[in-house]
Amino acid sequence: MFLLFFSSFPSIISHSTVSISETSDHTLICALGPSFLNCSSFPAGIYIPRLNSSVSYSGIVAGEGFLCALISFSSSSSSSSSSSIMVCWRFFTNGSNMVYKRIYRGPFLRELQAGNSHICGLVNATNRLHCWQWPEFNSTSAQNLSFCSIAVGEDFVCGLSGNGNIACLGNVSSVGDPPKGNFSMIAAGFRHACALTFDNELHCWGTMEGQKPQHKFKLLALGENRSCGLRLNDRVVCWGQNNFSLQESLRESSFATIEAKRNIFCGVLIQNRSLVCWGNEILDSNLIVFEKVRPGPYTSTCPYSDITPPVAGPALAPSSPPPAPEESTSSGWSDKMIACLVVGCVGSSVLLLTIGFFLLRYYKCKGCRVHDSGPLDETGAPLEQGTRQQQQQHPQIEQAAPPVLEKRLSQLASMGNASHLEEFSLQLLLEATNNFSEDHKVGEGSFGSVYRCTLGDGREVAIKRAETSSTSSYAVESRRQEEKDNAFINELETLSRLHHKNLVRLLGFCEDCNERVLVYEYLSNGTLHNHLHKLQNSPLMSWPKRIKVALDAARGIEYLHEYAVPPIIHRDIKSSNILLDSSWTAKVSDFGLSLTGPEDEESHLSLSAAGTVGYMDPEYYRLQLLTTKSDVYSFGVVLLELLSGMKAIHKNENGVPRNVVDFAVPYIEQDEIHRVLDKRVPTPTPHEIEAVAYVGFLAADCVTFEGQDRPSMTEIVNNLERALALCSAQPTSLSRSTTESSK
Ligand SMILES: *[C@@H]1O[C@H](CO)[C@@H](O)[C@H](O)[C@H]1NC(C)=O
Ligand SMILES: *[C@@H]1O[C@H](CO)[C@@H](O)[C@H](O)[C@H]1NC(C)=O
Ligand SMILES: *[C@@H]1O[C@H](CO)[C@@H](O)[C@H](O)[C@H]1NC(C)=O
Ligand SMILES: *[C@@H]1O[C@H](CO)[C@@H](O)[C@H](O)[C@H]1NC(C)=O
Ligand SMILES: *[C@@H]1O[C@H](CO)[C@@H](O)[C@H](O)[C@H]1NC(C)=O
Ligand SMILES: *[C@@H]1O[C@H](CO)[C@@H](O)[C@H](O)[C@H]1NC(C)=O
Ligand SMILES: *[C@@H]1O[C@H](CO)[C@@H](O)[C@H](O)[C@H]1NC(C)=O
Repeated sequence: MFLLFFSSFPSIISHSTVSISETSDHTLICALGPSFLNCSSFPAGIYIPRLNSSVSYSGIVAGEGFLCALISFSSSSSSSSSSSIMVCWRFFTNGSNMVYKRIYRGPFLRELQAGNSHICGLVNATNRLHCWQWPEFNSTSAQNLSFCSIAVGEDFVCGLSGNGNIACLGNVSSVGDPPKGNFSMIAAGFRHACALTFDNELHCWGTMEGQKPQHKFKLLALGENRSCGLRLNDRVVCWGQNNFSLQESLRESSFATIEAKRNIFCGVLIQNRSLVCWGNEILDSNLIVFEKVRPGPYTSTCPYSDITPPVAGPALAPSSPPPAPEESTSSGWSDKMIACLVVGCVGSSVLLLTIGFFLLRYYKCKGCRVHDSGPLDETGAPLEQGTRQQQQQHPQIEQAAPPVLEKRLSQLASMGNASHLEEFSLQLLLEATNNFSEDHKVGEGSFGSVYRCTLGDGREVAIKRAETSSTSSYAVESRRQEEKDNAFINELETLSRLHHKNLVRLLGFCEDCNERVLVYEYLSNGTLHNHLHKLQNSPLMSWPKRIKVALDAARGIEYLHEYAVPPIIHRDIKSSNILLDSSWTAKVSDFGLSLTGPEDEESHLSLSAAGTVGYMDPEYYRLQLLTTKSDVYSFGVVLLELLSGMKAIHKNENGVPRNVVDFAVPYIEQDEIHRVLDKRVPTPTPHEIEAVAYVGFLAADCVTFEGQDRPSMTEIVNNLERALALCSAQPTSLSRSTTESSK
């Protein structure tokens, strides 16, 4: 397909294939085999769910009471879209099942390390540190640092910079100052850390027990009061409290890699890739834990030649980085337990879904085009120095249409494009709307006001009438007039060749007069915006209904992007341009700003940005690049509105205006969607929560900063179809994980 699982890694990637968890009375050892993740509890007692072997993990880490596995994805076409998912299991020794939860989904993590309690990773693209399960950790102090490798201790994390210097963060006083100089590898124990120079010399700091050996090492595994190192000749040497040393039987064995946690050490034998572990009585007498462990390419990632200083986030970035750990995990793992439990029940299906999702999302965008620049809803200000709402007068018919309009209208007519459209007489429309009276007015569109009325033959229609103004300020006015004329012609041209059940249907127009009027089917349930933000008792208060609305709208936009020839970019996707008919089918409306896009895949349109604040693609706004991915961004904002019930721009608790993207995406990326869900909608059922989380990830993808990383509308439609199916499905997966929990 379009992406590859990492089955073998470039040596620069450092993911461990062996993990050790020490609890007060149990040790859980896990290892990745060629195609499986196996865990074993010493003594027996930790209940391990059978892990689905069709999920391929690239690395595992563990600490006290948790095990985390990384799933890595790479797009074959662009390394920048590589990404990772981290899933974790919380386990207990009292007979409870493991609890499953995704805790990360985002840019590719090059390295993942865990101490006893905390987990940290390095984001490949930025070399930035990202930590989890560490409420006290102040990540702001790491913001100016970029690392090529990291080591996580009990309450500190040390990183090696591109030039080989060491910096430590967290509770640094517990471990002391790192040595100065250039190093190629670092490792952390509980309260000590060590580094290797480029000459493989060992330097340690913090509270290290035992006598530092004089050997040269290529790899280190540090525990609590104990340490082991892999020598250049592949033999392991151990040292530490109470004269800790490697047992006789292993001293002549050659190891590919070693791992440690507190008292326990494990190594993979080179000769047959068996995993042997030592450090307590049970393990010392049961040396072989697993056979055929995947040899972790656990080599140092430093020097990493390509370290570049982190760049400041673009001012217009659509989403801020996830909240610092201190906010997001302020009460630790336990307060997430309810969500965890819900998610845990359906854990294995989640993984598959997530993977399916990734499989789907890497299609490349087909040619596209755009449209935007509409009026704003009350939350935003127009981007154009707009004065659209100013004149509410209703000029009479005399207004002369600019010649350009006439010309284009006659062109359109002569091309026969509009032949199936009805021509309405102005007289009929004036009568039906009582001279375009305020009573009939239902809203504003991109080129004028919208009126609702019943025609003589009983048809209910919506009439869009271009605003013309007789006021002065000639230059500006005439330019604005021209813009509106263009919007009008655009919409007529666009709609006259579009037929889709999720696009508002154009019935006809009024052409014999100088008025610019379009007549549409009337959709009795009004705009999505009204249902989300105005009506007190909207029927759209269920997750399946909301996902259905999203799917309908997505299909309409997909049609514009993929099936219209040439493709059309709407440019003004927002909840007030999504209308609902009497049977709650959603339809996309207002094509006044739409543009016909380039027909080849690579190009984009460049034009001055137009659209609605809060929905506008930052890339388009900033670079003036218009592609179908700009509509995808706006659609992502609509998805976030559907999930959160909040306006694209709204005020937070303190009355400060906030973008729904900035608010919701950080939580979604941490798989904490329950924090952003619309409270008016009943709490999702266990099968709904997965669908909702899935839509959340989709929305986050739609609003990524780089257009090329966003999914296409076809992928979005596919994903929403799955989400809707999931939502209405019976929770079949619920019984499975519980039945497998017995010993
Ligand atoms: C693992 O996933 C595959 C692929 O979806 C599925 O066919 C299989 O039944 C799953 N196995 C278990 C044990 O859940
Ligand atoms: C990691 O980053 C480097 C440098 O930016 C890049 O060349 C490489 O392709 C990235 N690897 C992955 C798997 O994304
Ligand atoms: C086991 O411990 C966890 C966490 O302390 C607790 O939530 C759970 O109810 C316990 N289970 C049993 C069977 O005691
Ligand atoms: C985090 O560190 C920054 C800079 O060192 C400091 O200004 C800030 O107050 C710290 N925040 C907390 C919560 O400790
Ligand atoms: C390590 O040493 C300290 C101090 O001697 C002791 O309190 C602690 O229990 C030791 N840890 C282990 C795992 O032996
Ligand atoms: C692997 O090698 C070890 C050490 O020689 C040995 O004890 C073990 O039986 C071997 N495993 C297999 C599957 O051959
Ligand atoms: C590891 O898991 C695989 C697949 O589930 C299984 O065939 C194998 O026996 C397991 N190995 C051990 C040592 O438990």
